[in-house]
Amino acid sequence: MRILMVGDVIGRGGRHTVCGLLPILRSELNIDFVTVQGENLAGGFGLTRDTVADLLDSGADVVTSGNHVWDRKEFIEHLDDPALPALRPMNYPAAAPGRGSIDTGPVAVVNLIGRVFVGEFDSPFDAVDDLLASGWGKGKPIIVDFHAEATSEKAAMAWHLDGRTAAVCGTHTHVPTADARVLPGGTAFVSDLGMVGSPDSVIGMHVDDVLARFLTGVPRRMRPVERGPMKFNSALIEVDEQTSLALSIERVDRKWTV
Ligand SMILES: [Fe+2]
Ligand SMILES: [Fe+2]
Repeated sequence: MRILMVGDVIGRGGRHTVCGLLPILRSELNIDFVTVQGENLAGGFGLTRDTVADLLDSGADVVTSGNHVWDRKEFIEHLDDPALPALRPMNYPAAAPGRGSIDTGPVAVVNLIGRVFVGEFDSPFDAVDDLLASGWGKGKPIIVDFHAEATSEKAAMAWHLDGRTAAVCGTHTHVPTADARVLPGGTAFVSDLGMVGSPDSVIGMHVDDVLARFLTGVPRRMRPVERGPMKFNSALIEVDEQTSLALSIERVDRKWTV
């Protein structure tokens, strides 16, 4: 089984890139299942029903999210829609809307958020341990989107889950890392998938907007770069259907223009 995990999709430019490229990649690379990190889908901040639908229509099976999941208030009610395969990180308080894991049938997906430089959340390590101890996802590939800032926290999670999940792939920094590998127990890992957005930007946002914040210290609205060259960062994981663990992981990084 071949699973593609796609990094944070930034605004309209990122969405149009996914809509153009994902159907091509699905057939070119014989991909069976796709996750996409959606926290920056809508104008760079949050998700909406329509922007999630764009991804699902283009070939995504599950849309994950992160710290920006609450930015669009109108989307929060949709997180509780059992028919919509959109997740929020699992280690929010149990009373938070939405869910952090989904068993789609062929593949089970978990969404976690890190605590180092991100925020105060329940332990992502304890949360995923409790889920796996319940027998959830047993006998099928389990893949984890760990939305976190620190490479150390992401690597620690991958080693913690080595041999128990098919993949632990990081998101949130928007910067792809060159450390993709399969750990000894059979868990595919990469510190960060990267993003789908403009290379002529600061993590997908207009350079001027971000630079002004650093130069002046004055808050300023950040706008995603929506036109021109785009990059598409993802990783392809091949899973052994006998063991439900990873055989290989390789980066799939492409260029596109919108
Ligand atoms: Fe992001
Ligand atoms: Fe994030």
